[in-house]
This record gives sequence, C-alpha cells and structure tokens, in this order.
Amino acid sequence: MFAEGNNSFVLIVAHGGEQFNQALPYLLVATALIVGVYVVLSITRPRSVEPKSKWSPWEWAVYAATLLSVGVLAATSFGAVLSVGVLNGWALLAHMVGAGMFVFVLPVLAITWCEPSRFDLRRYGQREQTGSQRFYWFPKLTFWLLLASGWVVAMTMLVSMIPWMGTDELESMLELHRWSGLLVVVAAALHVSGIVMQRFGKR
Ligand code: HEM
Repeated sequence: MFAEGNNSFVLIVAHGGEQFNQALPYLLVATALIVGVYVVLSITRPRSVEPKSKWSPWEWAVYAATLLSVGVLAATSFGAVLSVGVLNGWALLAHMVGAGMFVFVLPVLAITWCEPSRFDLRRYGQREQTGSQRFYWFPKLTFWLLLASGWVVAMTMLVSMIPWMGTDELESMLELHRWSGLLVVVAAALHVSGIVMQRFGKR
C-alpha cells in the first residue's frame, strides 16, 4: 500500500499541467454560468423564430454517440484531475475507451453535419423565404469550434505515439491536449444548449 501511495506521489510531482489543474474548476463553473445565462436570455427575450428542418434518425444517432464519447472523456479526465490530480489506472483505461469512440465518431460527425452547419452568406440580406435551415448561427458556430478542437485533441495524442519527439515536446503536446480537450467540452456544452433552445422553439 505504501509503495502504491509513493508511486502516486511520484506521478503527481512529476506531472506538469499545474496551471490547468488549478484553473479547471473555475473554468467549468464559468462554462456552466455562460450556458445558464445564454438559456435564460434565449427564454426571456421574445423574437420571431424561423422554422427549422427535421433531423434524420442517423443524424440523431451520430450526435448522441459524439456527446456520449465527449461525456466519457470529460468525466474520466476531469474527474481524475479534480480528485487525484492525475489521469491514471482505471480512469485512464476508461479514457481510452472514450477516445476510441471519439476518434471514430468525429469524422462521421464532420461528414454528417458539415452541410447543415454551413454559413450560407447568400441567405443574408434576402427578402424572400430561402427555405428552412437546420440550425441557427449559434449551433453552427459551436459545431465548427467542436470539430476544430476535437481534431486538435485527437491529433495531439495520435501524433505523440509516433517516436519522433523528446520529453519536452511530448509535455507540450499533453498540455495542448488538456486545453483543447477543455475547449471540446465547452463547445459541446454550448452546442447542446443551442440545440435545446431550438427544440423548445426559442431560437
Ligand atoms: C473531449 C475530449 C478529451 C478530453 C476532455 C481529454 C482530456 C484529457 C486530460 C485533461 C488529460 C490530462 C490528464 C492529466 O493531467 O493527467 C488527458 C490525458 C490523456 N488523454 Fe485525453 N482528452 C480527450 C480526448 C482524448 C483522445 C481523443 C485521446 C486519444 C486519441 C486521448 C488520450 C489521452 C491520453 C493517452 C492521455 C494520458 C497522457 C499522459 O498522461 O501521458 N484523449 N486527456
């Protein structure tokens, strides 16, 4: 037991990312607050809402799989960082399960959702009806943020597996992985809140 405790101590001491570990709880609370303010503003401000086109079951399935994998990745990594300060053991194994799912589903999400998330500039300034869109600007914007940060979070780990970097470079990649992972979670939370507002007919 002593050896195990000692081992964890060595891991935590050798572990970078102190800044991330300290900032994480505040940034998660700030994200929850932003989502809360956004939802309250969307509900309370009256506006005329354009009708939106429906999603197919396939689009629902891809979205659900994406959120599930992001949920597993966030819970395992942030849970471990907030409780013991480092991701290892069973939490790391579960993180890898979520990672496998995420790496598979992200390109599928990109292919399925790119077209309806396109900003069609020709629509703006037109007087006549141009047909219903799937999303309003906020889910579109956060979709692209999710996709870009998701690509970075996966690439930082996949590229780190190729033996061409030294310890310092690998540390930098892990640091980038942490912050881009946080950005994925923030983008996903904002995206979900936009979609929920749409479903309730508020946007
Ligand atoms: C929403 C997406 C993700 C989030 C929020 C996330 C978050 C994190 C965080 C915060 C850490 C550092 C934990 C620590 O400081 O000990 C970490 C480590 C790790 N992540 Fe992720 N991650 C995500 C996606 C992925 C993906 C897609 C992969 C694989 C392709 C991956 C593989 C790893 C590995 C292997 C580690 C351990 C690295 C090490 O300690 O040397 N993660 N992740």
